[in-house]
Amino acid sequence: MSSDANALAQIELHKALAPQYAYRYSFPWSRLFQEDWHGEMISHVQPDAKHILDLGCGTGFFLAELEAKHPGSVGLDISHEMLKVSNEYVDNARLVTGDAEKLPFQPGCFDVVFCKGSLHHTRDHVGFLTNCRKALGPKGRLIMSEPCNDNPIIRLARAILYKKSKHFDTGDEGFRKRQIVGLCEAAGFRVTKVKMYGVFAYTFAGFPDHIGILRYIPGATLLTKLMIGLDRVICAIPGLRMLGFHIVVVGEPAGD
Ligand SMILES: C[S@@+](CC[C@H](N)C(=O)[O-])C[C@H]1O[C@@H](n2cnc3c(N)ncnc32)[C@H](O)[C@@H]1O
Repeated sequence: MSSDANALAQIELHKALAPQYAYRYSFPWSRLFQEDWHGEMISHVQPDAKHILDLGCGTGFFLAELEAKHPGSVGLDISHEMLKVSNEYVDNARLVTGDAEKLPFQPGCFDVVFCKGSLHHTRDHVGFLTNCRKALGPKGRLIMSEPCNDNPIIRLARAILYKKSKHFDTGDEGFRKRQIVGLCEAAGFRVTKVKMYGVFAYTFAGFPDHIGILRYIPGATLLTKLMIGLDRVICAIPGLRMLGFHIVVVGEPAGD
């Protein structure tokens, strides 16, 4: 599918998903998990960063946190329906409806570009990442979290889910570690950090719209805290970290 046809398909897909995302972020334990995930991403921001872009910001839950820390943060998403939900979380956000494959910003105007789960929804990955690099200043940083498919069981589970569920597009595949690092390098980034994120908390607390079992379990918030801690240990151990569902990648413009 061409990038333009995919862009239209993504707008249609996310029109239907917008209320589902509002539900996803509506439980104390699902918010706790998402905030931990955001904390992981934010931990890679340079101390003097001021101008922040969240690319594919969706319903704006992460953007609200960014805006609280870095007033003036900008969120861009291709789905106006997703952005409309963000009024619930962010009062003052600067929101742009647009296509990450055709970014409407001046070159070099951001210190950080975040992408949480948006790259795999596009088709021209190197084009997307090149746009990220162009939007960053020379000391800027790309901080990305994308589905990781290194583990064959996770790869298979995702392939089945993406095929069977109307909430996914079959073309929205995850990445192998080597592949996503290669894409970043092809787009002119020097990759400075790669980390796995999310095992049990990701599965059971991250997506109540898909797996809602914690809704019926007393002490779900405490359980989520325990799972977050366990996931952190698992993702730090070589050999076990391939159980992680997401890969966090940090890159800086490689320069000449
Ligand atoms: C998996 S959602 C993640 C949303 C948000 N980052 C979050 O974590 O809740 C992917 C988002 O990417 C957006 N998206 C897909 N293709 C895009 C494109 N070409 N340009 C900008 N946003 C896009 C979708 O509309 C959707 O909001």
